[in-house]
Amino acid sequence: MATATTRNNYLDENQSRFIEQLLEWLAIPSISTLPEHKDDVRRAADWVRDKLVAMGFPEAKTIATEGHPLVYGQWLIDNKRPTLLFYGHYDVQPVDPIDEWQTPPFQPTIRDGNIYCRGASDDKAQIMLVLAALEAWIKVDGALPLNIKILLEGEEEAGGASIARYVQENPEFLRADAVLICDTHMVHPKQPSLVTGLRGVLYTELAVSGAKTDLHSGSYGGVAPNPIHALCILISRLKGEDGVIQIPELAAAIPIPSAAEELFWQEDPLHAKEALCTEMGVEELVGEKEYPALERIGLRPALEVHGIRGGFTGTGAKTVIPASAIAKVSLRLPAGLEPNEVFAWLEKAVDEKIPGGHKVRLSNLHSGKGFYIEHDNRYIRAAAEALESAYGTAPVFMREGGSIPIAALFDTVLKTPVVLMGFGLPDDNIHAPNEKFSINQFNKGTKTVADFLGRLTSG
Ligand code: BES
Ligand code: ZN
Repeated sequence: MATATTRNNYLDENQSRFIEQLLEWLAIPSISTLPEHKDDVRRAADWVRDKLVAMGFPEAKTIATEGHPLVYGQWLIDNKRPTLLFYGHYDVQPVDPIDEWQTPPFQPTIRDGNIYCRGASDDKAQIMLVLAALEAWIKVDGALPLNIKILLEGEEEAGGASIARYVQENPEFLRADAVLICDTHMVHPKQPSLVTGLRGVLYTELAVSGAKTDLHSGSYGGVAPNPIHALCILISRLKGEDGVIQIPELAAAIPIPSAAEELFWQEDPLHAKEALCTEMGVEELVGEKEYPALERIGLRPALEVHGIRGGFTGTGAKTVIPASAIAKVSLRLPAGLEPNEVFAWLEKAVDEKIPGGHKVRLSNLHSGKGFYIEHDNRYIRAAAEALESAYGTAPVFMREGGSIPIAALFDTVLKTPVVLMGFGLPDDNIHAPNEKFSINQFNKGTKTVADFLGRLTSG
């Protein structure tokens, strides 16, 4: 076996080539939620399949689904060695508001040591750094240190229905000793973290209607139903200014954290509260003030409105009462809760709280379960050691508020331990304008993953 230093040298020497390839991939606008980008999503899938072929993977293919394709690659070297399943997503979020981008969202640009592009941090650079680490083993040692399966999806940002079906139907084929996911972030560039839990998500659309047609607001104002106003009232009845969600069944279902986790949140040794204010550019946090910030993000449910559409928003003025309006509303859910059950609770609350004179319809656009990982296993220990060796600081273990729906299925269906080792940074602007990924993090990430792979084999 070559030494870690030789592999790290290979990674340093070839870094600019990895980055060049990454920029090529990033330029493909693989926005999964917008139908007009369907071909781009497929091109991004083909691109990474071709990359696996070029790396020498004996098996690398795209798998057609009802939605966007999956990409699968495997390289099995020795059935006495462990098998690692690596998961990532090659789809990206939409780019609006486009005017806020300093450089066009799909024109990858390097500025101040960062790569700016939609999908840079979430998740293409994080996939690419794993491929670079694998390449270092292949080129320097002549072979991978363990068996590798790679499963990439193109629908994560749109709910991930196809991969969920695939994993449920092919548990034997995907069988592995551990799953690695690099789709989260660290606390800051000097403080690595390993994620121990993710929240689930339930994404819905609320459609409210009133009169049979739009109405003149002079002739009817004061007597007509107004769906936009009704939506505002409904939403504030679901979550008021105190940040408390008014769904009694949900409130009763929030799990009780361990005393150690509660203490960590209370003491907040990483100063998450201040860091969050700085990241957001605000002076204070809103929401459930009596709970520590990390608890609100990691364990408490959250109800957020993503957009409201209806009526007149063009230039100038138009005196109209709209006949209908919609809002996109999601709930983040503590690990352990079943989104479909929560949907029924939400439906009941919506029916009770909609102001009289209006009709409301709630649809479930997509959902995914959250999960919590028992992190006392050799795979997570190997990840912790690799992070400590690359960063000079031991990682902290903490929950994150975002969701990776398939992670819960790997845990419950495949019963495979999941390692959530991400290299993003809190200010990467994921899902927002000017998304970026740090080149330093890319470099350290490649080395950490290469080291992690070696530790899995030797342990
Ligand atoms: N990479 C994120 C998940 C994430 C974000 C984990 C922040 C930890 C911290 C992932 O790509 C993502 O954005 N997922 C979506 C899933 C949803 C659309 C089903 C999310 O969380 O909104
Ligand atoms: Zn995302």
